[in-house]
Amino acid sequence: KELKINLKEIEKGEYKHFMLKEIYEQPKTILDTLRGRLLISDGLICIDGIESNKEIFINAKCITIVACGTSWHSSLIGEYLLEELARIPVKVEYASEFRYRNPIIEEQNIVIVISQSGETADTIAALKLAKKKGAFVFGICNVAGSYIARNVDAGAYTHAGPEIGVASTKSFTSQITVLFLLALKIGKYRSTITNIRYEFLCKELISVPEKMNFTLKIDNNIQKISKLYHHVNNFLYLGRGINFPVSLEGALKLKEISYIHAEGYPAGEMKHGPIALIDENMPVVVIATKKGYYEKIIGNIQEIKARKGKIIAIVNEGDIQASKLADHIIEIPIISEELSPLITIIPLQLLAYQIAYLRGKNVDRPRNLAKSVTVE
Ligand code: G6P
Repeated sequence: KELKINLKEIEKGEYKHFMLKEIYEQPKTILDTLRGRLLISDGLICIDGIESNKEIFINAKCITIVACGTSWHSSLIGEYLLEELARIPVKVEYASEFRYRNPIIEEQNIVIVISQSGETADTIAALKLAKKKGAFVFGICNVAGSYIARNVDAGAYTHAGPEIGVASTKSFTSQITVLFLLALKIGKYRSTITNIRYEFLCKELISVPEKMNFTLKIDNNIQKISKLYHHVNNFLYLGRGINFPVSLEGALKLKEISYIHAEGYPAGEMKHGPIALIDENMPVVVIATKKGYYEKIIGNIQEIKARKGKIIAIVNEGDIQASKLADHIIEIPIISEELSPLITIIPLQLLAYQIAYLRGKNVDRPRNLAKSVTVE
């Protein structure tokens, strides 16, 4: 068969770096992930790998998700989604830990492996161990024909297209989209979500690309904030609930490409350690969107302010409370909590990019990192 390659996909075009191009591609890649899978007029989600294994998913007692790096962060978001919508207990493990333990895999356990490349050595070893222990293994990969894609019992591609920047961006949002579709589909099979909620969330999902486009317009604002903070040595990122993993991913992006030390934390844990770090030199990025734990986050912002930390708050349009307290605000559109990571991550990706760019770093090929870690 003739191999068709769209050269545009692997060129930078008008962008300075692949990473920036890939951040901006996300409204399109989400549509690619959804294409043929979300049939909104019929209220249907079609994923072959789930449909042909319907009974396995209906009867699942527990799901373990195994991954590395950014894929591990999307796994944590998957945990929230699958538990919330499909009511199946979920555990998330680093592949490098899972492979060297003696994990308990019982009957009716499912293992989901997530990997952009489908070639990460630790994730492959975890997949082999899960199969040896008799688990049904479902894969979520981006690269067609990769080792993981070929060796799972069933799976779903993310269809994000080639990702060239070492720091993963569009793969992350595509992985979350697939996990969201899985959670909705399994939730529907198991009758753990009402029809009204199911239909509402399908409609919300359709609105994501447009809301992402809108969110990308904040780049100018982020450039201004980056100019003020690109020289600092430390950053703290806080989020709650489904946006806690987003804070981890925001911190990872900054570390990877700007070499600034950054930590992501659940905002409620701040009092158990990170609060000791806060002074007038510490920028704290807080995800303070309206849906989910808003009042609690306001409390956290007040604690930071009392210690003179510099607050960069990600808020929804029209926000008043958090905006009054913050030093800088980044406004994003409102979306239901379950889908919010797809929007809240965009300012964090842009912030990492702009800061690394101002520091003159090699954004697409950061030191010591590889796109795909095929050795241990
Ligand atoms: C490397 C990359 C990361 C990626 C991780 C897992 O560390 O630099 O961007 O998240 O591997 O890769 P995978 O291909 O398994 O998702």
